[in-house]
Parts: sequence; C-alpha cells; structure tokens
Amino acid sequence: RRDFLIRSGATLATAATTAATTAAMTGLPRLARAATAGLPELRAQKAQVQLAPEGYPQTAIWGYGGALPGPELRLAQGARVQRRFVNDLPQASTVHWHGVRLDNAMDGVPGLTQAAVAPGDGFDYDFTAGDAGTFWYHAHERSVEQVARGLYGALVVEEAEAPDVDADLVLVLDDWLLDPETAQIDTDFEAPHDRSHAGRRGNFVATNGQQAYSRDVATHDRLRLRLINAANARIFVLDVAGMEGWTIALDGMPLPAPTPLTEPVLLGPGQRADLIVDITAEPGEVAQLLRFDSRDGVSQAGFPVTGQSARSRRPAPAALPPNPRMGVTLDADTAALRLNMEGGAMGRLDAAILNGTRRTFRELVEANEFWSFNGVVGMPDAPLATLARGQTATLEIRNDTAFPHAMHLHGMHFRELDDTGAATGPLRDTLLMAGGETRSIGFTADNPGDWMFHCHMLSHAASGMMTWLRVA
Ligand code: C2O
Ligand code: CU
Repeated sequence: RRDFLIRSGATLATAATTAATTAAMTGLPRLARAATAGLPELRAQKAQVQLAPEGYPQTAIWGYGGALPGPELRLAQGARVQRRFVNDLPQASTVHWHGVRLDNAMDGVPGLTQAAVAPGDGFDYDFTAGDAGTFWYHAHERSVEQVARGLYGALVVEEAEAPDVDADLVLVLDDWLLDPETAQIDTDFEAPHDRSHAGRRGNFVATNGQQAYSRDVATHDRLRLRLINAANARIFVLDVAGMEGWTIALDGMPLPAPTPLTEPVLLGPGQRADLIVDITAEPGEVAQLLRFDSRDGVSQAGFPVTGQSARSRRPAPAALPPNPRMGVTLDADTAALRLNMEGGAMGRLDAAILNGTRRTFRELVEANEFWSFNGVVGMPDAPLATLARGQTATLEIRNDTAFPHAMHLHGMHFRELDDTGAATGPLRDTLLMAGGETRSIGFTADNPGDWMFHCHMLSHAASGMMTWLRVA
C-alpha cells in the first residue's frame, strides 16, 4: 500500500510538473492549468529533517510538503485559501484552520464537519480569509500524534494597510520529545502520565524547526513577530531583550491599542501573539526572544545586530485596523452556559460517563481516560448547547482540576468577561486557564454549524476534554 502511494505521488508530481512546463512553454493562461491540475496541493507526507543539532541523525517527521513547519500560506485579507489536501500518511487525517472564522464544512474536524481523509485520498479546502491576522493550520485527526510529528504550518492573512516594518517574521514555537541518542520522535503518544498530568512536553525546544533560530537585524529595525505556539502542551513564557516592543494582536485579532511589552507574554498551546519590536541592541550584540522555563531565560530566537539602520527611533506603532464582527454585546437573550472541567491526577473526579456508561475514576484510569466536561468523558453525542444564529452566549468555565488548560473554540472568537459581566477582554480563540480557576467568556454565535470546544493540550483532548456547540 505504501509503495503504491509513493509511486502514485511521484506520478502526480510528474504530471503537475509537466502541466506547468507545458503551460510555461505555450503561454497558456494560469486558469487553464489550474483547471487541469486542481487546487494547489497541501500534501501530508513523511520526511527526514535536521531537527536536532548538526552531528545528530536526522529526525523522521510527518510534515506538510515534507517541511517543518509546513509551507507558510500568506495571502491578502478577503482572498480565498484553496488547497487540495493530499494524505500520503499511513493514517487518516484532516486539516484544521485554527482561528479562522470560516465555513463549518471547511473546519477539518473528522466526525463533526467532514469524514477523515483516508491514506491515499484527498480533500479540497476552499474558504475565504475574512479576518486579517496570524492563524495556523494543523492536523485534527489523532492530533496528539500528528501535531507532535510536525503536521502544522502558519496561515498569515495580511491587512490591506499593514504596519510599516523592516521584516515580518513568523516564529512557530514547538517542543519535541526526542530520543536523546537517535533524535527520533518518542512514539508513546498515549502515555498515561502525559494524559493525566500536564500533557506531552518535549525535551527539545525549537523555533521554525531550528534549535538556534537566528536572523540578522540592524539597530532601530522594526520587526513584526508572529508567534505561534504549536506545542502539544507547553506554555511558553516569553520576553524580549535588546528590543522594546508592543503586543498588537492576540489569536489573530487586533488589540484596540498596542500594549507595551512590560511583562512576559504567556502563550498557551494554540495561541498566537503578534508583536512589533524595535531593536535597541547595538551592533555586535544579539537581541533575543527569551523563554522562561524556570527562573532563567533561554534563547528562543536570536537577532544578531550586524549594523545600524539609517532610521532613528520611531514612535509607537498604531493599532492594527479592526477585523469585521469584533463586538460581543450581551443582552437579555444571551444564553448562559456552564462547563465544569474535572479529572486528571490530583483531581476530585469520582465518576463520569464514558461511551454512555457511568465509570468510576478508577475504571476511567484503566481505560486511559482522565477528564470530563460536565460529567462526560470525550466527544458527547449532543452538543453543549444549540444557539440561534446571531444569539450571544456566555460560558462560565470552571477548571476544577489541578492543571492549566488551553480551551479552544472553533469557528468563533470570544471575549473574556470582566467583573461587571461585560465582554471586554481581547477577542481570542483560545483561553489559557490555571488550575482551579473559574473564568467566563462571551461570544456571538454568528457562524452556523457544529463547532468544537476542547483543550488544546492535545493529550488532554485525547483523554476526555472535548465538546461541541451547535449554531443553528
Ligand atoms: Cu487548533 Cu481543535 O484545534
Ligand atoms: Cu487541558
């Protein structure tokens, strides 16, 4: 089967090359070629990459286009994302476009919005990128394994009037669980300890697949850094040195005003932050994006200063232009929803429903399942709620567990409620919650369809932390 796939892949590639050559030689319009070859491909395939430092063996990964991260898809706001996903993996897969408020049919959730794409098969993703911002795409079938093997990439939607910067850089942050000798990915994706505790955490941290990401800059350069946390479970605590800057967007959505980087940026799995930074370090120095694993900062990305920019210090950047439909106005028709999260190690869960049957926590542990939402383990048959299109909802999330969780809503962004109950927090798609916390979010159910709501610590999602909402 695998031989067949590789050969059929090669044939397709050859056909595409031939079509392109023919088009180039005959000067055929682009459209004619597109009609023959279909959408541009996004192929999930096995590959070998030098992930560990030189001198270590290459690492076998699964990547889009065989690359790590997958190809950076960059387009203008309002343009269409069109990709024929081709699955050359030994497992079924799908592509989820994290943070994009798209048509439900394109959301890439197997069993909810589409059938999983079998090995050798494909699926055409085609949607309009209505929001500008930093998004990402990743596998959504067995994500705990497929994302850990490298199946993700950045989706950048550019504002019509983007801030004036010297470089616009995507930094995909991830950690890998590698065998220290062979540099191969640990394949114990179902490890009970990871599932019941803080999730699968890596022993090798990288930026865009490189341990020592480096990019030359000049003093007074202004950079836009698009940070994406693609890790299975790691929460990145980030700060900058040798530069000063602002957060201008979170989870793809512009902040009303740039926020000066006076405290570390917390990035839970799935979350993004757009920073604008001005290099203050002098030639010969190295500006840094630092990660705080413990008390000491470690370099996550280095920016060696090789010269002086002709420019001098600039004023603070302006806010990004807002995206459409950013307001969340709660009213008398707002649905009040609740989500009670329980389970895990050191938790208080006594029993919960698994596959329709009540199980004691001990029985759940034996089944390698650990977490419940409103007393149910795993994806329930019925949605958490059915909302009318355009209705607003609040969701009080009680994290009655000992661990942090990164709660991600598909298809719609939300705002956290303030003390007065107004939805005034930044518009986000993933909420990072500490153990024991109760937080409330509000959103407008303006996108029809079935939307997942789950923990983006992928071992947690795989062992219970999943539910969904229906917008009728
Ligand atoms: Cu980024 Cu349901 O996922
Ligand atoms: Cu979690």
